[in-house]
Amino acid sequence: MQPNDLPSHGGDRHWALQTAGCTLQELIDFSANINPLGPPAAVLDAWQESTEMLLHYPDPECRELRRALGKHLEVDPEGILCGNGEAELLTWAGRECAQHGTTILPVPTFGDHTRALAAFGARVHKVALNEDFSLPPLPDGDALLLANPHNPSGKLYSASELLVLAERFALVVLDEAFMDFIEHSNEHSLIRRVQQCTHLVVLRSMTKFYSLPGLRLGYAVLDPELARRWQGWRDPWSVNGLAQHLGVIALSDVDFHTRTRTWLACARARLVEELAALPGLEVLPGAANFLLVRTKVSAVYLQRELLSRHRLFIRHCTSYEGMGERYFRVAVRSDADNARLVSALAEVLG
Ligand SMILES: Cc1ncc(COP(=O)(O)O)c(C=O)c1O
Repeated sequence: MQPNDLPSHGGDRHWALQTAGCTLQELIDFSANINPLGPPAAVLDAWQESTEMLLHYPDPECRELRRALGKHLEVDPEGILCGNGEAELLTWAGRECAQHGTTILPVPTFGDHTRALAAFGARVHKVALNEDFSLPPLPDGDALLLANPHNPSGKLYSASELLVLAERFALVVLDEAFMDFIEHSNEHSLIRRVQQCTHLVVLRSMTKFYSLPGLRLGYAVLDPELARRWQGWRDPWSVNGLAQHLGVIALSDVDFHTRTRTWLACARARLVEELAALPGLEVLPGAANFLLVRTKVSAVYLQRELLSRHRLFIRHCTSYEGMGERYFRVAVRSDADNARLVSALAEVLG
């Protein structure tokens, strides 16, 4: 239980299945922000023919995947480090921050940021974001850890704002887990600035956009010297061979990238409109593939009712610092799933 005695199972699927009394196939999961269009067809095809990957140790340096990422991102592969999900790279970012003095951590934020910083005893100074999740004036510090787009609000900070901010810190770690979902993401991402700003580290996840959360794959774009240091900290085979192989194939599916962004723009707009029409709900204007909703009725109550009556799993935000029971977050899913959510919410709220 959390300090205020609210259940902490924001996104715990095992708990959700028990509460809903259904199987995994029957549950519609709005709590994890996974692209409903994926995994890309090419990945599913390749998966069938990848048994070879089980027979060998993976490449500890992920050379092919880094080469493919370098081409995809237009950055030097020497400055790319692949990880067992972005979460693994957050761990090493936490260690790096711990070596830098005080880390400024705008909150609320993704819980794993706190975990990674605590793992190495980093000194952390939390700073509350403004009510609209924009950045307040930040105090001085040595390192900064921030998600862009922000989780759980989906707010997108401008590249220019972040570049100005970055000048004030010796280390800046940007968690761009959801950046692939953003239209014209190159204009918003700082990935291509890393080469000039060697104190900048950008982390990306490949599990959400490509719908591969079980495979575990992410990467960091960072100064090659830092990449070598982090590589030296970890075990040699943290990114398995299958993930490396399928990651290369996922990147090559350009059609999947385009289809996802086109789908998201329409599906999100429709869901915003329909949720906003329900009584007592206010939808925050997020740029990512999920929506944060302010609710007059307790989000913990809504989560439980939607689960037990409709087998729909939303994410209440009580585990996010300072958010309490008045917010929930939902992934944008297929039109059919989104429609089910809207009508179930209408019933529960009605
Ligand atoms: C903001 C943010 N960063 C990182 C991650 C971790 O992603 P991965 O599945 O690649 O470890 C998540 C997962 O939910 C996230 O929301």
